[in-house]
Amino acid sequence: MSSLKEVAARAGVSTATVSHVTNKSAYVSSTLRERVLKAMRELNYHPNAVARTLKTKKSKTVGIIIPDIANPFFPMVVRGAEDELRHNGYTLILGNSDGDLAKEELYYNTFHSKRVDGMLLIVSPSSSPPEYLRRDKHKDDATPIVYVDRFHRGLRGDVVMADNAGGSYQAVCHLVDAGHRRIGIITGPLELTNARLRLEGYKRALREHQLPITDPLIRIGKFDVQSGYQETKELLKLAEPPTGVFICNALMSLGFLRALKETGVSCPRDVALVTFDDMDWFDLFQPRITAVSQPAYELGAKAAELLVGRIAGELHGPPCHKILPTKLVIRDSSSSTKESSGQI
Ligand code: RIB
Repeated sequence: MSSLKEVAARAGVSTATVSHVTNKSAYVSSTLRERVLKAMRELNYHPNAVARTLKTKKSKTVGIIIPDIANPFFPMVVRGAEDELRHNGYTLILGNSDGDLAKEELYYNTFHSKRVDGMLLIVSPSSSPPEYLRRDKHKDDATPIVYVDRFHRGLRGDVVMADNAGGSYQAVCHLVDAGHRRIGIITGPLELTNARLRLEGYKRALREHQLPITDPLIRIGKFDVQSGYQETKELLKLAEPPTGVFICNALMSLGFLRALKETGVSCPRDVALVTFDDMDWFDLFQPRITAVSQPAYELGAKAAELLVGRIAGELHGPPCHKILPTKLVIRDSSSSTKESSGQI
């Protein structure tokens, strides 16, 4: 492997100039920079990031932990974060926790050992904040963390999430406006803040319309296809099944549609659907799915922006809690008429 010295010799500059080019640490004229980059290419030279981290105590790396890489919502968050971080000279490394605390802790510790400059965390369900996160709570020099989409109450760290309660409230009001009086909900795991907030939004909408909040109509899912399927079956078995259902994420809505297909129940004729999380292809379904769209890309980008500010010491003061607005996209699955274009 070639060395910094060899690059400097080939480019006819000092080793300091080569370092300034690779670290962007001082002005180098474009002619000189081009010569250095050409020499690096010819010699297949790659700067030693480990040595640089040891010297500067900065790795220019950020870790992100997401619960489920197969759920299309999370890659969009990662895209937003990655774009913002790359723009600021950071590399993003990713861990997929599978919503499992042990795996989450493993990535958290691994990222620390790799000396990441900060972390973006989409936490797994847990009844109280996990010990490894509580440990760093009072340390002033702790690696900055920004919680995205969900957070643990009582922990230090900035939070960026969508307006979960507001979006759900709007979804359920929409079902009420379409004439529904028995509205079911399939929530996410209630150990998650966003799942609890979505349930709150549902309850508020019912209360404000003087509609009863009925336990059998509230089903607790796991934000996955299987639980959406199972809980829909439970709802359909009720003596008085709901005429409208609010489902708290896209994957569970796929389970809902599968259960309907199997049981011959038609949407929206027999049961209307509004889901949280919009997906591009919901527009292609029959019926087209009404959804609360949350800004997944912007959540990641905003979280990364805050993190960069914390790492650089430009963002001071107490943790901030940013709530990004959601938007209700009305399509056919919540239609109040029986002549909807594409029923299943
Ligand atoms: O699909 C995953 C869901 O859980 C999304 O709604 C997102 O908000 C996440 O927390």
